[in-house]
Amino acid sequence: MTYQVTVEPTGDVVEVEDGQTLLDAALRQGVWLPFACGHGTCGTCKVQVLEGYADAGDASSFALMDSERDEGKLLACCCLPESDMVIEADVDVDPDFQGLPVEDYQGKVVLIEDLSPTIKHIRLELDRPMAFQAGQYINLHVPSIDSTRAFSIANPPSMSGIIDLHVRKVEGGAGTTWLHDELQVGQSLDVSGPYGQFFVRKSDPQGAIFIAGGSGLSSPESMIMDLLEEGDTRPIYLFQGARNKAELYHADHFYQLAEKHDNFHYIPALNAPLPDDAWEGFVGFVHEAVGQFFEQRCSGNKAYLCGPPPMIEAAISTLIQSRLFERDIHMEQFLTAA
Ligand code: FES
Repeated sequence: MTYQVTVEPTGDVVEVEDGQTLLDAALRQGVWLPFACGHGTCGTCKVQVLEGYADAGDASSFALMDSERDEGKLLACCCLPESDMVIEADVDVDPDFQGLPVEDYQGKVVLIEDLSPTIKHIRLELDRPMAFQAGQYINLHVPSIDSTRAFSIANPPSMSGIIDLHVRKVEGGAGTTWLHDELQVGQSLDVSGPYGQFFVRKSDPQGAIFIAGGSGLSSPESMIMDLLEEGDTRPIYLFQGARNKAELYHADHFYQLAEKHDNFHYIPALNAPLPDDAWEGFVGFVHEAVGQFFEQRCSGNKAYLCGPPPMIEAAISTLIQSRLFERDIHMEQFLTAA
């Protein structure tokens, strides 16, 4: 059984299979609907039903309150249409968003290596190239738990058919523990993508401040490589935060890029350097490095944040105190890859 869902005000029509969520169907057909978490907890994908009906699915009660259900609202990432429908969504699409359709792929593991004591680099070779925007992410099916985990793509789109992931082992996290301890080179995994609205607003010529913590370096790395490959001349700043030198991976790569490109600036920060780290760089949290570097004046830039929630919160507060508008701050929001 297939249902037709018409999205207002654009008039796009999405064909939704029985048992398929509205968001999944829309993304696979290249129809843009706003979303972030993808699993019913953030409320970003809320839509208004104008005609027809659907099962609300696993929407959490704080993402979709009872009063909103009574008003005919649904979460596109959870709801399962049960008739033809007409819905209204906030489809104010950013002009830099390409809306590339989500597809399924097979990814063969061709490389596994340690980036730091807690983060591994996993390289997948896809059965065919995936078109994506630098900064987007994939869902990786983890066979041991028969579930998916979201990981940002760390390589630039120019590396056709390759997906590089930086996977941090999350304490007690079944998915990342299996990827760290059991996954072998040669295995194939199911991949779907690309997802997400974390990408560089290239049409806006302002400078770009990237703030990354831990394995959150992956999407900024992809975005920076993409900009530099294209010969972008805007000022680009990368602030990378880590506990100590062993956790500060790819630093040599970024130092080399900074030597090669006058417009690229690399500022690493260690918040707990070890005695034998012989560290002469910034000591403190990465948001403190941002505040010090810009002397509390970040205006004229856009900021792109990726890392653990406390880092994101601290960075937002520093940026706003440093005169950056909220509309110029973008962040990766899924952050649930346990
Ligand atoms: Fe649907 Fe977060 S609740 S995307």
